[in-house]
Formats: sequence, structure tokens, C-alpha cells
Amino acid sequence: MKILVTGGAGFIGSAVVRLAISRGHEVVNLDALTYAACLDNVASVADAPGYAFEQVDIRDRPALDRVLSDHRPDAIMHLAAESHVDRSIDGPATFIETNVMGTFNLLEAARSYWDGQGRDPAFRFHHISTDEVFGSLGPEGQFTEETPYDPRSPYSASKASSDHLVRAWHETYGLPVVLTNCSNNYGPYHFPEKLIPIVILKALAGEPIPIYGDGSNVRDWLYVEDHADALLLVLEKGAIGRSYNIGGENERSNLDLVRTLCTILDRMAPKEVSYGDQITFVADRPGHDARYAIDPTRIRDELGWRPSVTVEEGLEKTVRWYLDNRDWWQALLDRDGVGRRLGRAS
Ligand code: NAD
Ligand code: TYD
Repeated sequence: MKILVTGGAGFIGSAVVRLAISRGHEVVNLDALTYAACLDNVASVADAPGYAFEQVDIRDRPALDRVLSDHRPDAIMHLAAESHVDRSIDGPATFIETNVMGTFNLLEAARSYWDGQGRDPAFRFHHISTDEVFGSLGPEGQFTEETPYDPRSPYSASKASSDHLVRAWHETYGLPVVLTNCSNNYGPYHFPEKLIPIVILKALAGEPIPIYGDGSNVRDWLYVEDHADALLLVLEKGAIGRSYNIGGENERSNLDLVRTLCTILDRMAPKEVSYGDQITFVADRPGHDARYAIDPTRIRDELGWRPSVTVEEGLEKTVRWYLDNRDWWQALLDRDGVGRRLGRAS
């Protein structure tokens, strides 16, 4: 299959690109190369015969039309987005422009391309979204595909809007879409503005490891390569118009997670005192969602997907990767906002 992947120079998109190429697919990686992108993430496949890169912004409709007509993909996997909640608090406009208007542009470009192709029923538009559209859970329960949308941050509101657009383009125009909503990812190539890479890098730098609030907020963690595997499965086997929640049922409070990372670092990169001594509680994020948890029953029962690594294995692999790939993250440290506290509002 020839797949157009948007956002393929980012964290999850690059994992999808690497996996798709390794499975024999052709890939057109379309990415605007924002602050969050890194072409090193796809260096391992850049010379593969089935790989092409297009530096294009999804807000640029003529450029999208040109890419679709030049490459004629069988499917689109849409991951390009502004993805960091804290940045959405500081500057929501780009989130609306890229996540809402960019998705609208891509849907319109896809619809026009698909119409021009004779509305091939085998074509797919796969929209990749987040569990954050469902809002914040109390201590009990999990998000199912039927959970009402209740986004609470500019980021999650913009992703919820894009999900609604994708469903509307299916209902109204018949575009063959599938949707996925995934929990928090972690693993190699995670940009150093998100919790897990921040913890590892601050720990190694001997700096305070910032935990927002009291660290009791709970996230449901999934290894990024397991997410990429689930995404390709949904693309190939998912039912048209259906959405699938993706998660590995690995809930951890932020404090537990950070302590686990410090213990792994104590073992892999020992120093005289524990990295745990660097944990520092800082002012909370405004509107900080208390808990996310995914019920993955549908993707497990209907498509047979299961994650391949436990969270303990995944965290070990991740810490090892950051220790072995210092050149990758050191080159990102002078990117705008990296290393600085973001998302405090006022
Ligand atoms: P990321 O920030 O690492 O990468 C986003 C990529 O999109 C970057 O390469 C960036 O250059 C590109 N991009 C941004 N704006 C663009 C534009 N206007 N035009 C073209 N390209 C643009 O994000 P990620 O963590 O890899 O997330 C990818 C997708 O998965 C997003 O849609 C996100 O909402 C979703 N998601 C993320 C998580 C998570 O834990 N990170 C969980 C569930 C869903
Ligand atoms: P993040 O990686 O930004 O993902 P999301 O907000 O999309 O879940 O944050 C994960 C959790 O970690 C979230 O509860 C906020 C918290 N957090 C910290 O405690 N310290 C930090 O420095 C960051 C970036 C996040």
C-alpha cells in the first residue's frame, strides 16, 4: 500500500513511517517541520526505495492537492498536529489553525482526490487522535468509544473538533474514514518537552525534575511502537466510519512514574545519590486533567490487537535509548521553549 503519513517527522508519525517501511509499504512523509519535528527520526528509512518526503504545511491547500496528485496514495494517515498541552495554554491560535483548519484542508483535499479517483471504496482516511478529547476521569472507570466528548484544554478541544470534522466528512460525503483515540505514548524520539524525556534529561543534567501539583494525576502509558502497530492494523482491518480506542491499561500516577524512571536511572547511570532526590513539586498546570484511562476492548476483541511490551519493559528500553542517543536530544536542547516551564497561564 502507498500511505501518505502527515506529521511523519514527529514522535509518533516517525514510528509509523519506520514500521510501515519495514513492512513493505510505500510511504510519503508530509511534514511542515515545525519546532517538534526532526528528520533524524526517519534517517533509518530515508534511503529506502519506497520512501519520499514532502515539506508541506497542512494549512496549504494547493500544496496538499499537488502532493496527492503527484503521489496518488492508497491511504492517508493523519498525525500532523500541534501536540503539547502546555504550549496550547500559552498560544492556542496555532492549535486551532493546524489541528482544526489544517484537518479541514486535508479532508477537503482528500475528498477532491478521492472523487477524482472514482471514489475507490478501498481508499482510507485514518485520523489519529487522543484520549484527551474525552476529558478528565475520576478515580473509577475508563474511556470507551461511546464516552461523550468533554475536552478541557485548547489542545484537546482542537483535537475534538478535528475528530468531529472527520466523522462529518464520512457521514456527509461518504469519505471512507477510520479514527483512533490513543492514550499517552512514550518511547524513543519523544520530543524533550513531554514528561518522560523531561524527567530523563533533567535527571542527567543534575537539575530539578518538575512535577506539576502533587503528582497524583494519572496517565495511561503506551509504548510508541505498539501504538504504531495498532495504527497500521486499524488502517488495514478497521471498519469504515468506526473509531477505536488504543491503550495498554498501564495507569500510573505522575509521581509513581517519575520515581520508577529515577530507579531505572539509578541502575543504568548510577551516581552517588539517587536521582529521586531531584524530584521537585512545582505550580500545577491550569485545568490539569486528573486521570485518563482507555478501555481497549474494541480493538482487542474486533481486531485482535495487544501491546507487545509491559510498561516496565518499555520504560527500561526508553531510558536505555536516551542514554545511548545523546546526540539526538542534545541537538534539540536549543529549540524554542525546550528546558523552560511552559503552560502556566496567568
Ligand atoms: P509531535 O508534536 O511529536 O509531532 C507532530 C508533527 O506534526 C511534527 O513533525 C510537526 O512538524 C508536524 N506538524 C505540525 N503542524 C503541522 C502542519 N501545520 N503541517 C504539517 N505538519 C505539521 O506529535 P506526536 O506526539 O507525534 O503526535 C502525533 C499525533 O498523535 C497528533 O495528532 C496527536 O494529537 C496524536 N496523539 C499523540 C499522543 C501522545 O502521547 N503524544 C497520544 C495520542 C494521540
Ligand atoms: P505531558 O507529557 O505534557 O502529556 P499530557 O498532558 O498530554 O498527558 O504530561 C503528562 C503528565 O505529566 C501530565 O499530567 C502533566 C505532567 N507533567 C509534569 O508533572 N511535569 C512536566 O514537566 C510535564 C511536561 C508534565
